Amino acid sequence: MSAQGLTMRCNENRNATGAVETSDAGFGLEIRGLSKRYGSFAAVDGFDMEVLKGETMGLLGPNGAGKSTILKCVSGLQFPTDGTISIDGVDFRRHKEAMARVGCVIETPMPYPVCTPAEMLSFVGRMRGIPKDEIRVRSRDVMETLGIWPWRDKRTAGFSKGMRQRVTIATALMHDPDVVLLDEPASGLDPRGMMDMRQIIAGLKKKGTTMVISTHMLREAYDLCDSVTIIDHGKKVAGGSVKDVVKGFLQKTTLTIKTDKDVTAAFLKKVAALPGVSETEAVDSRTLRLGFDGTDAERTAIAGLIQTEGLGLLSMDESYDGLERLYMSLTGNQEAEVRCLS
Ligand SMILES: Nc1ncnc2c1ncn2[C@@H]1O[C@H](COP(=O)(O)OP(=O)(O)OP(=O)(O)O)[C@@H](O)[C@H]1O
Ligand SMILES: [Mg+2]
Repeated sequence: MSAQGLTMRCNENRNATGAVETSDAGFGLEIRGLSKRYGSFAAVDGFDMEVLKGETMGLLGPNGAGKSTILKCVSGLQFPTDGTISIDGVDFRRHKEAMARVGCVIETPMPYPVCTPAEMLSFVGRMRGIPKDEIRVRSRDVMETLGIWPWRDKRTAGFSKGMRQRVTIATALMHDPDVVLLDEPASGLDPRGMMDMRQIIAGLKKKGTTMVISTHMLREAYDLCDSVTIIDHGKKVAGGSVKDVVKGFLQKTTLTIKTDKDVTAAFLKKVAALPGVSETEAVDSRTLRLGFDGTDAERTAIAGLIQTEGLGLLSMDESYDGLERLYMSLTGNQEAEVRCLS
């Protein structure tokens, strides 16, 4: 976040006596006891989530779990029934201007088809109260970040889904928000579009933006997020760093090892006997898959054994494919999206 804010900012939180309240917790976003009810139906029910400054949080959950509702509450598009939301320690309810520090793309908003990206950004810039000369600089900056600068003067009516997605993200970034919320940003994109989206998210992450990304794509969450929160029926069912959440549940990861020569059964036996290793499997003559819950030193010992045995280590990849298994075990109500109708 640049020091000079382009829009109204609330950098401090004053209490009734005028003293400044600050949060030392280091949370870019903190949600406590959030509930959103529609009549007697609780779409979100006592939900807590903390996102450290600069961290990317993945919000995972099945259809109807309450992801978009949470993001709408955080962006100010919906009023929570209960709970508190703080941006950088500043409580939303008491300081509505804190909402200006959030940029969001929720569900699938469309840019106006008759407008060009430059016009959309100029419109959003004015709405956000950004001074005129800064609008030009800022919109060029976000269009370059999102890779839409070459199309700045083309009407979005003719844009592909991926290009429109970029324009809506650009509008969300226009006021240089501290917290960015992206609701299923890669949904409906082709593999190249998804890859581009990942790069865009990685770029924002590099800039130190605090982000919440809701997604159904567990691989995406695993690759992009520092932490994940899994929700079902509007309630949090798991949360923490990606590795801790998965490890805490499954206790082990999968190591896939590729060697430059064929491995023997005797070698496999030796690997299986190493501390931290379980479930050895030869995927093919030069690829091993191991269950592993050891230390870094024990992982190094596997590499050492490969060398001692006269094999070349081409790669050793660690994966937490357990995220899928964890997700499936913690969530399971396919009918969640119609609960409110019953
Ligand atoms: N305006 C509304 N009135 C009544 N119920 C609603 C309203 N908006 C959402 N809901 C219900 O709240 C629940 C949570 O919806 P939400 O859109 O937050 O889920 P989601 O996790 O984003 O799902 P998806 O993955 O399908 O986008 C659903 O059961 C939905 O039907
Ligand atoms: Mg949704």
